[in-house]
Amino acid sequence: MHQRAALAAYALLAMVPGSTAAEQTQAVAPSRPALRVVGDGIPDPIGGAKGDPERGRALILAHDSANCILCHALSDPSVRFSGNLGPPLDGIARKLSVAQLRLRVADNLRLDPATIMPSYYRTEGLDRVASAFRGKPILNAGQIEDVVAYLATLK
Ligand code: HEC
Repeated sequence: MHQRAALAAYALLAMVPGSTAAEQTQAVAPSRPALRVVGDGIPDPIGGAKGDPERGRALILAHDSANCILCHALSDPSVRFSGNLGPPLDGIARKLSVAQLRLRVADNLRLDPATIMPSYYRTEGLDRVASAFRGKPILNAGQIEDVVAYLATLK
């Protein structure tokens, strides 16, 4: 329990939700493509470009960027330790469509305002963000697409 709380605190350090997930359009900085949410997914690639699964795999595994395996198990030869706060990512593309995967990575807070999973493409409604990071998402549009492209291979 202590470890779980510590991990959640770590994840939330820069991203405590301050608004509800109810609104369907997100005002983003002018330079950033906006999210178009339909149902519980984002049907179109953010920014329009197709992602690269190999780059996505590297991001998912990297401890200094997305760090998905902090919370998610993944059967991959290079993973030695992973957390279990979230469900395993193995076979995730059998359960969720590409559009559903994209929303979960980009802005999971819209689906669950209480989630501990970072909303990797959100910048608004977050408190306690260091000024250097204000207005910048954790992953940019291209990186979100890379991560989604890799998740889509996990059948
Ligand atoms: C701090 C912990 C944490 C991190 C880091 C994290 N997640 Fe999650 N994730 C969760 C939890 C917990 C859930 C369960 C649903 C919820 O709480 O919203 C979840 C749910 C998901 C789901 C939906 C799973 C399902 O079965 O419906 C996907 C897909 C996902 N995460 C992918 C990722 C990816 C990809 C990354 C990295 C870019 C990532 N997560 C980083 C905690 C995390």
